[in-house]
Amino acid sequence: DWTPASFVHETIEQLKKQIGDAHVIMALSGGVDSTVAATLISRAIGDRLHGIFVDNGVLRKDEFEQVLATYQQLGLNVKGVNAKQLFYNELKGKTDPEAKRKTIGKLFIDVFQQEAEQIKEAKFLGQGTIYPDVIESVSVHGPSVTIKSHHNVGGLPEKMHLSLVEPLRLLFKDEVRKVGLELGIPTDMINRHPFPGPGLAIRILGEITEEKVQLLQAADHIYIQGLKDNNLYTQVWQAGAILLPVKSVGVMGDERTYEFTVALRAVTSVDGMTADWAHLPYEFLANMSNEIINNVRGINRVVYDISSKPPATIEWE
Ligand code: XMP
Repeated sequence: DWTPASFVHETIEQLKKQIGDAHVIMALSGGVDSTVAATLISRAIGDRLHGIFVDNGVLRKDEFEQVLATYQQLGLNVKGVNAKQLFYNELKGKTDPEAKRKTIGKLFIDVFQQEAEQIKEAKFLGQGTIYPDVIESVSVHGPSVTIKSHHNVGGLPEKMHLSLVEPLRLLFKDEVRKVGLELGIPTDMINRHPFPGPGLAIRILGEITEEKVQLLQAADHIYIQGLKDNNLYTQVWQAGAILLPVKSVGVMGDERTYEFTVALRAVTSVDGMTADWAHLPYEFLANMSNEIINNVRGINRVVYDISSKPPATIEWE
């Protein structure tokens, strides 16, 4: 019967056989799946795994540095690539959600490919594909096609003559988490909420600027930290802040303000296909509103999204 320990043991043996003395390249996202997959591969082949983690400019506050530190702690051979300005430049003037997604997906492949080409010994491409992704990629309905688009490095395997290594292909999410714990991956990493590939770019409605990213990062950070401090983080499936393209009037001291609104979102869900808005305590929401408005200059109004999916979606774009 299946246990995390037996899975880890058997998978490492299989990976050793499959990979031999070749090298593997892999795009890491900071998410649970790619981290667990990379750790397994690394246990099998050590530094012949070459991880690449791209800062696309629309990660959460301090996420790039923190995730890289965790990779280091896990002994993974990972290169962090700061490509922020490239992404900001290309996103300039784009307001359509799908155009933003396409831009980010394409740039990501460009950056990854450039890095991958420098690793000439690579014969394999590692991926954190899990069982639900396998099913999703053969179903044709709706937005599920775009899910994980940032992991999907397009025609890259064929183009670079790479074979796939996907050690989690038969696992469900809860099993991936158990395997991760077995591998000694920190619980903070294991319990992370899902985060979309296009990141904060689809949580800034309309055009993206570096200033707006910083504004949203600051508000989102207060909210996520608040959820953690109040033991609410693991009770919701996904949470985040959304920067709305509306300014409204407020008052601060004797002055009138005219600033942005942030929407807070938190949902409970099993798989993201359907979701209920999370009934967070009023007092918590009141604290978050105060903390955000008092600490983030440029935001003078906070609202809470009470829409469920369907008919709403989890993301606003
Ligand atoms: P929606 O908004 O469709 O989101 O209810 C369902 C889940 O999918 C995530 N999501 C994405 N993930 N690329 C991704 O990697 C995307 O373009 C994308 N759009 C939505 C969303 O965060 C939620 O977990």
